[in-house]
Amino acid sequence: MSEKTILDYDTVALDDDNDALVIIDQTKLPGKIELLHLHTAQEIWDAIYLLQVRGAPAIGVAAGYGIYLLAKQIDTDDFELFYEKFCEYKKFLDSSRPTAVNLSWALNRMEQVALCAGRQEHRPVSQIKELLRREAVAIQEEDIAICKAIGEYGLTLVKPGDGILTHCNAGKLAASRYGTATAPIYLGAERGYDFHVYADETRPLLQGARLTAFELQSAGIDVTLICDNMSGMVMKQGKVQAVFVGCDRVAANGDTANKIGTSVVAAVAKQYGVPFYVCAPTSTIDWNTPTGDRIVIEERKPEEVTEMWYEKRMAPDGVKVFNPAFDVTDASLITGIVTEYGIARSPYTESLQEIKRKLGNG
Ligand code: MRU
Repeated sequence: MSEKTILDYDTVALDDDNDALVIIDQTKLPGKIELLHLHTAQEIWDAIYLLQVRGAPAIGVAAGYGIYLLAKQIDTDDFELFYEKFCEYKKFLDSSRPTAVNLSWALNRMEQVALCAGRQEHRPVSQIKELLRREAVAIQEEDIAICKAIGEYGLTLVKPGDGILTHCNAGKLAASRYGTATAPIYLGAERGYDFHVYADETRPLLQGARLTAFELQSAGIDVTLICDNMSGMVMKQGKVQAVFVGCDRVAANGDTANKIGTSVVAAVAKQYGVPFYVCAPTSTIDWNTPTGDRIVIEERKPEEVTEMWYEKRMAPDGVKVFNPAFDVTDASLITGIVTEYGIARSPYTESLQEIKRKLGNG
């Protein structure tokens, strides 16, 4: 029997019999594939905060299963008492990371299920717990189908043999199965497209080097790792025909928050005439945020820049460090936003509303 690879593991899974949320500890990759079994609110919060589970869609799936497991532990038959405790857990999990909208999106979706079943339909708490389980499973199953649909649309934008550059990890490890930005790459590989992928290492937490390079290499895809400051060079040399990136929150005007450094890649792509595509499940579009300057950007601790990945601290003691985890790419730099309902193009204020209408009808 052939050895298991990272592709054989679910990024996020529910072990209902043992009341556990099971995740791959992504901080240990690529050195070690270790599964974590999370039971308590604090364990789930820590896993999201520490990026043991990360990437917007995967955070949403983890939050769905997480809040279900916590709801299951609430020991009361009284709906209002149940709901009060549910909201406490929800608020706590929602505070683990601020930028990826999928976290609050999934938690709100779960809350709506509890509210509707409890207040409108007056169902017993035991039944509400079962409905919550089904909703969490649905969030994950939908994510698989959504990633595949994004892949199909994305594949229409490239041709066999193309060079594709990606930043951070918007792959299987950040979502379900095909990933978002990697979905056209995986689908293309299944169909013999022979892409050449350039993966930015993605300072400071190296999601590109540790995760994207790892999962694409495991899938047998031709991937070349580059430092973040090399994307201009490979584009200028004509090695890249398209950029595909994921996103953590898309504002209603198309401005897009994604891993720090994405906006630089977009600006360089524009300079060299390379199309820059954002792959966005509609769960990542925040129609309530009008523009990118309203997106809250997570700032993380300085040690991620000065110490992590080095045998000993490499920067002078006491130096000031700025460590935002995300930046916002202006809509004007984005060639297209690839959703599961089709590709939105400028002007995004209109095209994203069209996607919203399709979502409403879908
Ligand atoms: O800090 P991370 O690793 O959670 O950041 C992840 C990204 O920026 C991804 O590109 C984004 O979440 C999209 S994942 C499909």
